[in-house]
Amino acid sequence: MAETYPKRTSYWLDSTPATNYPELSNDLDVDVAVIGAGIVGLTTALLLKRAGRSVAVVEARRIAAQVTGHTTAKLTSLHGLIYAHLIENLGEHRARLYAESNQAAIGVVETIARQLGVDCDFERKAAYTVTASKEQVPAMVAEAEAAKRLALPASFVTETTLPFPVAGAVRFDHQAQFHPRKYLLAIAAALNEGGGAVFEGTRVLDVVEGAPCEVKTHKGKIRAKDVVIATNIPILDRGGFFARAFPRRHLVLGIRVPPEQVPEGMFLGIGEPSFSIRVQPTEAGPLLIVSGQGFRTGHADTEAKLRELQSFVHSRFEVRSVDYLWGNQDYDAVDRVPYVGPLTPFSKHIYTATGFNAWGLSNGTVAATIISDELLGNHNRWAETYRTQRLELKTGGAKWLRENLHVGEMWLRDKFHTGKKRAIDELAPGEADVISHREKKMAVYRDDEGNIHCVSLVCTHMGCTVRWNKLEKSWDCPCHGSRFDVDGAVLSGPAVEDLERFSG
Ligand SMILES: Cc1cc2nc3c(=O)[nH]c(=O)nc-3n(C[C@H](O)[C@H](O)[C@H](O)COP(=O)(O)OP(=O)(O)OC[C@H]3O[C@@H](n4cnc5c(N)ncnc54)[C@H](O)[C@@H]3O)c2cc1C
Ligand code: FES
Repeated sequence: MAETYPKRTSYWLDSTPATNYPELSNDLDVDVAVIGAGIVGLTTALLLKRAGRSVAVVEARRIAAQVTGHTTAKLTSLHGLIYAHLIENLGEHRARLYAESNQAAIGVVETIARQLGVDCDFERKAAYTVTASKEQVPAMVAEAEAAKRLALPASFVTETTLPFPVAGAVRFDHQAQFHPRKYLLAIAAALNEGGGAVFEGTRVLDVVEGAPCEVKTHKGKIRAKDVVIATNIPILDRGGFFARAFPRRHLVLGIRVPPEQVPEGMFLGIGEPSFSIRVQPTEAGPLLIVSGQGFRTGHADTEAKLRELQSFVHSRFEVRSVDYLWGNQDYDAVDRVPYVGPLTPFSKHIYTATGFNAWGLSNGTVAATIISDELLGNHNRWAETYRTQRLELKTGGAKWLRENLHVGEMWLRDKFHTGKKRAIDELAPGEADVISHREKKMAVYRDDEGNIHCVSLVCTHMGCTVRWNKLEKSWDCPCHGSRFDVDGAVLSGPAVEDLERFSG
């Protein structure tokens, strides 16, 4: 099925202005340096600024344009089938704190948006986890019961407003959806009132903990009493989060359907097929934002994943147009609870948050409240549940071992894989390949104009071998999810250095 995509960007980016905050140009002294301007970094910075701390936010690329700028933007404590699992594995007390904190995060976003006077399309809606499979109905019933026990607004239902049948669903009332970029642009503007607090185009390369800490970038240094690493996956390896949180990527389509097929609410389909659907009001009418099954970064044929998603939307909806296509990834914590707190057991002044399991709008807001409370010396009742230094052996030990063995296996296998005996000239426009050239294995891409882009295959994070992502035209690392553009520039992930560039 051939389809054209007018926009290869997210609706959130397309419907908001580009930002132009300055790069860091001088050394700076502040109370807190926040690295990364997604929902975690910007919310943390705002809460600290309101408490009287001087704050600088340093963003490698553009604010609210990475994971938070490509999300599906449901703001909910309904995170698939999780509460029966949390009660069984972490106990009812911790499960209750997880539920309570995520439920509270919806109110935090609503309050901040109201205080800032920003219209960020915040709307209260019901959220559903649905299944088409009768075999999964008992698990749905158990989940609704578990959630009710934790005081969540849950019920089990068999009817939804989706234009296709479901076997059963868990419904949470009074959840919310919003426009994450409108929200974060308003936070950044509030932070930067008076100037000098938000910096773009400034990649942090390292942080040295001390009194003060020193944040190193290519452009200058920031000295800060405390540092918050809010880069989605920490850019510092000291906490070992690259081996405790695993990248999962999704493709997302923005589609238009007839009015009678527009559902009311937000939906997560589990089992086969798995999907997420929500409706965004736009000037051109309702836009359905639909994502498909997640896949591990660097492990899938992304064009085949797109065909799967296309086939899903066309089999469930009368699609009038496909207006947007984008991709996004987040990291899964081994025990399904994000890590929030000090970077290492010895860190006194460096904090981080990661492993949001694709629920980081609520969980990321929770993380911001925990980190800001800890830095301000306030007690936070949720902090213990999310603490970074917990041992997940019982709840996630098997997953941890499986994932890390797989990384080791890939590292070895890819090292001994020889590049193709193929001349660079044989590459067609739009094609990329691993080519042995001048005794070196290289990642080579020929763009549509015929220009050759030649970079090293060796990921600058820990030396795994990057793989070509055909659909998104990037070199993706299958080990810990770093991604690089065709010229080797870091797009995301734990890597901070670009891939080495070669002349073709
Ligand atoms: C397909 C998909 C759908 C999702 N849908 C939902 C949903 O409906 N609801 C929900 O709650 N969650 C959802 N999520 C998850 C949620 O979007 C994320 O968990 C959340 O946005 C993560 O925010 P963040 O601040 O950690 O990361 P980001 O928004 O990526 O912010 C991190 C920032 O750090 C910057 N950075 C990185 N390295 C450096 C460096 N060295 N120096 C300076 N800056 C750096 C990056 O450029 C980036 O801007 C979804 C995720 C995916 C993949
Ligand atoms: S992301 Fe860790 S080796 Fe590439």
